[in-house]
Amino acid sequence: MENKGCSAEQIKTTLAQIRERVAPSAKNGRVASYIPELAKSDPRDLAVSVTLLDGTTYSVGESNKRFTLQSISKLFSLLIALIDQGPAAVFSVVGKEPTGDPFNSIVKLEMISSHKPLNPMINAGAIAVSSLISGEDVAARLDKILTLLKRMAGNETIAVNRRVYQSERETAHRNRALAYFMKDSGILKGDVEEILDLYFLHCSIEVTTEDLSAIAAVLANNGVHPITGQQLVPAEYARICKSFMVTCGMYNDSGAFAINAGIPAKSGVAGGILAAVPNKLGIGVYSPALNEKGNSLAGALFLEELSKAWNLSIF
Ligand code: DON
Repeated sequence: MENKGCSAEQIKTTLAQIRERVAPSAKNGRVASYIPELAKSDPRDLAVSVTLLDGTTYSVGESNKRFTLQSISKLFSLLIALIDQGPAAVFSVVGKEPTGDPFNSIVKLEMISSHKPLNPMINAGAIAVSSLISGEDVAARLDKILTLLKRMAGNETIAVNRRVYQSERETAHRNRALAYFMKDSGILKGDVEEILDLYFLHCSIEVTTEDLSAIAAVLANNGVHPITGQQLVPAEYARICKSFMVTCGMYNDSGAFAINAGIPAKSGVAGGILAAVPNKLGIGVYSPALNEKGNSLAGALFLEELSKAWNLSIF
């Protein structure tokens, strides 16, 4: 990688300098409030962790602060569905194409004759994917996602934030509309409220940027844990995830982000971004003030600057 030869001090200095430059931009963003519990976050927070493929992690800012994965969890419901059912079953309920629409849009679900959500990174697609996760009950299905995340992060304490989960569950009228539409059109099999519950729960899993960068490093390292050498995710499924991160990971900002940063990344409305630079490093970002597309404003800018500083663009 281009930053090979950078000393630990140089890495820390670069991270601190970029943080100082981009942090003020957060004042132009807004924290998400459509899930009331998320409105309590502090818009001044800006934390970034970088995990190299030798397992070393460098952090700046509030890297011990916990926040919920929200849409970043769509990567892990996809991974578990792929592991459980295989790609043919997964892509029978969800497509592979970007939408150009907001993440909770309903418009294309009716317009497309198959009624299949266009990809697993939008809400409808992630709900469809969650319906494929097998397990005796919702707790058992959630446990598969949590177990994978704990192994990837090397952190046994990862858990659901129950307050955020309740808050989302009580206010998820749009997601219910998407799910019941998909039930009516035959995309969703099974109990709609159970499928939604699993979706709300996995969105409400809490992490720090250090967890996120460690998890991202596994994706960057083709599914292999950088320290233990264990293959935690099949390389083929890690590749599918990174492809979706490029085309749909930043919602209808994915094209601009590909040009400006060129790093496979997935954002969530709590302000997190998970970024995986193939065969180089994993990055976790947290800054809760969002731009109008629902991506962390300062977080995306940080990744653009870091990409330029270390020549991380994959294009
Ligand atoms: O379903 C929702 O609206 C949230 N649980 C997740 C949305 C999200 O993170 C979109 N992100 N940028």
